[in-house]
Amino acid sequence: MCICVCLSHPTQASEPPNPTEEQPPLGTGSLSFPWSHLRLPGYIVPLHYHLLLHPNLTMLSYSGTVRIELQVQNNTNWVVLHSKGLRITTATMLDQNLAHLSDKVGYSLRTKPFVLPVLHNPTHEQTAIFSPRVLSGGQKYFLFLEFGAELGEGFYGFYRSTYRTSSGETRNLASTHFEPTSARMAFPCFDEPSFKANYSISIRRSRAHTALSNMPVQTVVLDDGLMEDRFAVSVRMSSYLVAFIVCDFRSVSATTASGVKVSVYAAPEKWQQTHYALKAAVKLLEFYEKYFNIKYPLPKQDLVAIPDFQAGAMENWGLITFRETSLLFDPATSSGSDRVWVTMVIAHELAHQWFGNLVTMQWWNDIWLNEGFARYMEYISVNATYPKLRVEDYLVDTCFAAIGRDSLNSSRPISSAAESPTQIEEMFDTVSYDKGACVLHMLRHYLTDQVFQSGIVRYLRRYSYSNAHNQDLWDSLANEEEFSSGEHCYSSRQAAKNYLYAGEHLDLTSMMNTWTLQTGVPLVTVTRQGSHLLLKQERFLRTAHPSDPTWPSLQQGFLWHIPLTYRTDTSTSIHRHPMTTLTDSVEVGEEVGWVKVNVDMAGYYLVHYDGSGWDDLIQLLKDNHTALTFMDRTHLIHNAFQLTTAGRLSLDKALDLIGYLRSESHTVPLLEGLGYLEAFYRIVERRDIPDVTQNLRYILWYFRDVIDRQTWSDKGSVSERRLRSELLSLACHLGDLPCLKQAQRSFTHWLDSNSTLNLPADMAETVYSVGAQEDTGWASLLQTYTHSLSETHKRKILSALASSRDTNKLTRLLELGLEGEVIRTQDLDSLIAMVARNPKGHHLAWSYVQKYWSTLVDKFQLGSFSIRNIIIGTTAQFSSTEELTEVRVFFESIHEQASQLRVTEVAMDNIQKNILWLQRNLGTLRSWLDQQID
Ligand code: BES
Ligand code: ZN
Repeated sequence: MCICVCLSHPTQASEPPNPTEEQPPLGTGSLSFPWSHLRLPGYIVPLHYHLLLHPNLTMLSYSGTVRIELQVQNNTNWVVLHSKGLRITTATMLDQNLAHLSDKVGYSLRTKPFVLPVLHNPTHEQTAIFSPRVLSGGQKYFLFLEFGAELGEGFYGFYRSTYRTSSGETRNLASTHFEPTSARMAFPCFDEPSFKANYSISIRRSRAHTALSNMPVQTVVLDDGLMEDRFAVSVRMSSYLVAFIVCDFRSVSATTASGVKVSVYAAPEKWQQTHYALKAAVKLLEFYEKYFNIKYPLPKQDLVAIPDFQAGAMENWGLITFRETSLLFDPATSSGSDRVWVTMVIAHELAHQWFGNLVTMQWWNDIWLNEGFARYMEYISVNATYPKLRVEDYLVDTCFAAIGRDSLNSSRPISSAAESPTQIEEMFDTVSYDKGACVLHMLRHYLTDQVFQSGIVRYLRRYSYSNAHNQDLWDSLANEEEFSSGEHCYSSRQAAKNYLYAGEHLDLTSMMNTWTLQTGVPLVTVTRQGSHLLLKQERFLRTAHPSDPTWPSLQQGFLWHIPLTYRTDTSTSIHRHPMTTLTDSVEVGEEVGWVKVNVDMAGYYLVHYDGSGWDDLIQLLKDNHTALTFMDRTHLIHNAFQLTTAGRLSLDKALDLIGYLRSESHTVPLLEGLGYLEAFYRIVERRDIPDVTQNLRYILWYFRDVIDRQTWSDKGSVSERRLRSELLSLACHLGDLPCLKQAQRSFTHWLDSNSTLNLPADMAETVYSVGAQEDTGWASLLQTYTHSLSETHKRKILSALASSRDTNKLTRLLELGLEGEVIRTQDLDSLIAMVARNPKGHHLAWSYVQKYWSTLVDKFQLGSFSIRNIIIGTTAQFSSTEELTEVRVFFESIHEQASQLRVTEVAMDNIQKNILWLQRNLGTLRSWLDQQID
């Protein structure tokens, strides 16, 4: 362990202590760092932080003081807390009896405190302050620290962001991002989610700027003409939710029915793009206050678009920060999907104000209690407030994403140990978000909407301003402990009465433990035997097969409590059966023709139909597909193709199953089927298998009618717009002549207008991609990219630029991404993934990642979403053993970093899955296509 011992520098304190009166600082030579764990000791608890910051946006640095009120529970000489990259210049300590002598915000040294030795342990991002006088258990103390740091280049802590005005001026701002472990980069603190405290924050700034923080502000003018913004004392909260910004942004505001002032901030010239977000935020905040029946506790909520932002958005309490594309909506250039995205992100972050901010997981191992809920609440709240967006139709995509990860051996349980910052950062993945949301969806269906809602309200009330574990959620949902009173209190008997699985014992904990503590997704195989349905469950793995020698060990010990549902042709009702054993059976009746298990995919499990099961369903879809709901049709398509990947179902069965799509009119199943065909096309195109690639253009013929029905406009429902956008993009990508011609015509119009024409937003990306294939088109697009003030527009252009077949142009883009001027660093990970999706850029992107690996890790953090996106984005299309070896060799060469990451395992599993897919299915695909085309 690297321990660096440094003495505090009393001479740099704002009021140097008088050497004759002051005790000299204690030498640190004899002291060694007193704490060896990653987590802080639990016996010193912060109660209240008084934080004063003075950033200098010209010098790009800041100084600060923090006075922390501490409750000491055991006698000790040490205070250990977090700090990373900060210069701590003074540390002093005062006990409770002298506290009244300290001033309100800062701290006066006139009270003759000790100037204390400060030790650092950079590997653990910790600092220890030694007090020669014992700090006594049961007492309160005030720790006072002076510190300073740079306003860094990256995306963590208190960092610098910039934007350019249309007149070419570059302006700086300073903003924060702390979750999960970067509050310690901005100020010394107890940076763990269970150390909740109150915060009194003050910021000094020039008149030209505005300062924002979690709470409302009162401003005073200081003697030197500076402004000091004093923010009201916060509610009790975790350090990762603290935020502050100093900028010169403009805002729009409105007030909710309950009196919360909501404001949306953006760079001055982007102010016109803030209106949609304001309306959506007010509506959604009002929805949540009703749904949770708990008032939003702060008087204001700000939503700010930060020009340099690594994540999509961050739920800081009362001061939510966003990437510009996640908040700003430009009616001229934003597409139907952009509108859905902005609404969902706002819904997500506002849900966190309850799930996460009011009630926080005890530790990061259960981050799903924040993120799984926030993801699921996106669907519930947007469905209620913007029903026309029909977002609930797309919940299946969230579940499919979860299954994609969970059906690989490298997956993990929803609740998993995480200790180091890298491990903690990596917890923000599809398992926490998407599997979390899908498991909650299953639970809501199991309990009924009403029992689910009152259960989560009970959970939020019980653990307000404190922390919770999984068990607390299950207890609240089952109402194990009578706690709250009034309209939201159900007794367990009442809960059981509302229960759909009548007569079953309500043991939520054992049921939910099988979903949250166990890795993987189950596959239920159903076999008709007379009037019975035989059921068998096992772990679904795409890379393993029952004939593999390792199969028994891979299946060892897996068992889920599955709330099984099914529908048959003999009634419209939903049948329910809790399956808690490996094999089971249910009586369906002799007269039943077809059975569809997992109704509307409300359960997190796949289904395989043995015997003639699949044939019956194929026939049903052919004869009368509307006998099943669109969700069920989508689910069947998904299950069939997943089973073919696992080698459990022959590919021609899955292809026959989607034969009915020619008469399908619903967007969701159409896109699901189309998605698989497109994925096959991409894999064979990349592997240079010309006959199959050529024949797969058959997709166009297959979907000819639907394609021809599309218009090149932004008309229709969001769902119709999404379908159109996907279909036409695919058609042009596959070289469909009518599509290419139309796109070229539109692109020429755009060029002729001097790039000022607004193309239909849903079509723009496709039109630009076609135009980008010509030198002049590409250059014009790059020019427009450089000057555009709409980030959504820029994202579409970047995708088009990255679709060029010219590798020199792709190399140029990657260079621009590294420079970070024209293409911002925040967009580099998606740029790399875009280049990698292009068959001409695939190997280029992978070589680039290997070459610039350490630069990339410096820019983003090791476990960050960006690094994971880069790794998955550049390896997901590999499908040969040679490529697998190449990737393995690279990961071995960066062993020290790779071994800390789960994502490297995921990347290799993905390649393995692709290799197996080709082995298992290429022959069948080839002959199936030959048959269709003959
Ligand atoms: N709490 C997260 C932000 C975050 C992400 C912090 C990763 C630390 C690591 C925030 O609520 C979030 O989930 N943001 C998403 C966007 C959202 C729409 C799902 C993100 O940043 O991708
Ligand atoms: Zn979130």
